Amino acid sequence: MPLVNMQDMLTHAYDNAYAVGSFNILSLDFLEGVLRAAERVRAPVILGLSEPHFDHYDIAALLPAVESAAKRAEVPVAIHFDHGSSIEPVQRAIALGCNGVMIDASHAPLEENLKTTRQVVEMAHACGVPVEAELGYVPEADEGGADLLSFTTVDQARGFIKHTGADFLAVSIGTVHGHLKGKPRLDYQRLRHINDALGIPLVIHGGSGLSDDQYHRLITGGVAKINYHTALSERAAKTIRSHGKSVQDYAGLMEGVREAIATEAEQCMRNWGSAGRAAEVISRCRGWSTAVQLTQFNVEMAAVDDMQMVLARGRRLLGAIPGVREVSTGHTTADGARHRFFWQVTLNHVDAAEAYLRHPNYRDFSHRLLAGISSDKQALLYQSLGSLPSEGATSAEAANWG
Ligand code: 13P
Repeated sequence: MPLVNMQDMLTHAYDNAYAVGSFNILSLDFLEGVLRAAERVRAPVILGLSEPHFDHYDIAALLPAVESAAKRAEVPVAIHFDHGSSIEPVQRAIALGCNGVMIDASHAPLEENLKTTRQVVEMAHACGVPVEAELGYVPEADEGGADLLSFTTVDQARGFIKHTGADFLAVSIGTVHGHLKGKPRLDYQRLRHINDALGIPLVIHGGSGLSDDQYHRLITGGVAKINYHTALSERAAKTIRSHGKSVQDYAGLMEGVREAIATEAEQCMRNWGSAGRAAEVISRCRGWSTAVQLTQFNVEMAAVDDMQMVLARGRRLLGAIPGVREVSTGHTTADGARHRFFWQVTLNHVDAAEAYLRHPNYRDFSHRLLAGISSDKQALLYQSLGSLPSEGATSAEAANWG
């Protein structure tokens, strides 16, 4: 259950005037540090996987760890894909387990931003996944900082949300990613007007380096999600440097990094009002779990040789449908079973089923290819009631195996 619907999570924050922290996860130290903080102060939290950080890790390798930790967390967690550049990486992030996504076409001309965002919203909503989009431009401090800021305008924001159907809007009102020289000047009036016009959770990028008063004014202006990375990363780096040259090994250098990250994240959660909200959020938010379509079938003796080819083709066709996380197949060893073979497709969420069953790739595979070799086929959709690693797999003894 601790993996929850991000739309519900942010709606709760928005309605109750606090903000959930979205912290980018660069490694297991970040993952454990951020979750340690959230559990310590009983806060809902968002774990961010950011496309611009892909030089530092392989998302396909890191996400299973993030998902496993989120499922075991004692607080509500959402897994968010940050700064997706186009529909393909966003679709891939959903297939890997993200249950919230951002499409960031804010650097492109407005028409292109509208088109790309709308395309992503259609695809992600068909998978049950809420979408954050950005309008106006929040630049990098080291790319030119405040000089490159392009503020979000109220009229454009109104039209943008109406046209795209995005669920959350990242606004540009004076923050930049990274460290700005001098104190950021934020346009609270603009924020208030955008909030009055849209009435949806707003998002701040470039959350590092603001004062407590600035955070407070952002939250009262409708901000329900704050992205925070630079300060967390610097805190981790400072801890590593504090060990000095005498420490030579990796484990020694990383000593204390998780706790430094936890301390920094905990401070944010207290400042932004998410601390102490976990139980309320768990009770109000829908949980998030996968769904499975299980097809059982038999194959005529004459078609057994064609089966491998059909199944390989099926994996390709179905794997390309938005929301499909895994395609697997197998056979029973039991004598006398009614069905000898199964075909199993894991969907990111039960809401993805409708579009999946209507998708031309599904029809092509199921009604033509599989139907051509199988008989006595039975297909059923199951919604998962949640999955957790077994007690054995999470015990200290088992954890030490590696
Ligand atoms: P900072 O690095 O300035 O905290 O911003 C983080 C961010 O906006 C990630 O999307």
